[in-house]
Amino acid sequence: MEAAAAAAAMGGEEDGRGRKGSWYAVGERAVLVPYLREHVPRYHEWMQDPALLEATASEPLSLAQEFEVHRSWTLDPLKHTFIVLDKELIEGEFVVGNPHTEAMIGDVNIYMNDPDDLELAEIEIMIAEQKSRGKGLGQEVTLMMMSFAVEKYGIHTFRAKISDSNTASLKLFRKLASRMLPIVQFLRR
Ligand SMILES: CC(C)(COP(=O)(O)OP(=O)(O)OC[C@H]1O[C@@H](n2cnc3c(N)ncnc32)[C@H](O)[C@@H]1OP(=O)(O)O)[C@@H](O)C(=O)NCCC(=O)NCCS
Repeated sequence: MEAAAAAAAMGGEEDGRGRKGSWYAVGERAVLVPYLREHVPRYHEWMQDPALLEATASEPLSLAQEFEVHRSWTLDPLKHTFIVLDKELIEGEFVVGNPHTEAMIGDVNIYMNDPDDLELAEIEIMIAEQKSRGKGLGQEVTLMMMSFAVEKYGIHTFRAKISDSNTASLKLFRKLASRMLPIVQFLRR
């Protein structure tokens, strides 16, 4: 699905500040849902994998710490996280408000972490489940998140930090950058 079409499929509620809220986004192969407490145990299982920890520059956490990180991300106005659902794995119909943990395969988030430029967001994507990789989900979800960030947060510039050895991520972002060169910055880690 093109980014514009994904944006058109977005639904959600404002939280009063016009920013974080219960946003959902429905794409061709993926659905983005808010990161809910119900998602934390599976997310924590993913983050025991040394390869995922390295690829995402993360530290291993206890389950209690993961719940605390979830709470802080939920409250942080500068961070927006979605859990990625693989539509093929959703049991029955997709229902807004249902965490659909059976279909969760990764996450995507933006972080407005440059105090000098709040229209710049660092973007991170993880398709944790091997069975859902290589199906175009990473690319679709990254475009959906960028579209969301432009529309809801007024983001003008995206930054992706990717290690030299992460061939899959480099390929994904280079492909996107070749389409959207002016708004993507690359940094080496
Ligand atoms: C990087 C990642 C998000 C890619 O997700 P994905 O859903 O498998 O990617 P897609 O299927 O959308 O593929 C996007 C492009 O990358 C390429 N690609 C994907 N995996 C690849 C691999 N292992 N090696 C080489 N190219 C790869 C695809 O071929 C595709 O390009 P194409 O359309 O020209 O063929 C996923 O591998 C991942 O989550 N890795 C671990 C976490 C991570 O590294 N996150 C990024 C941190 S910066």
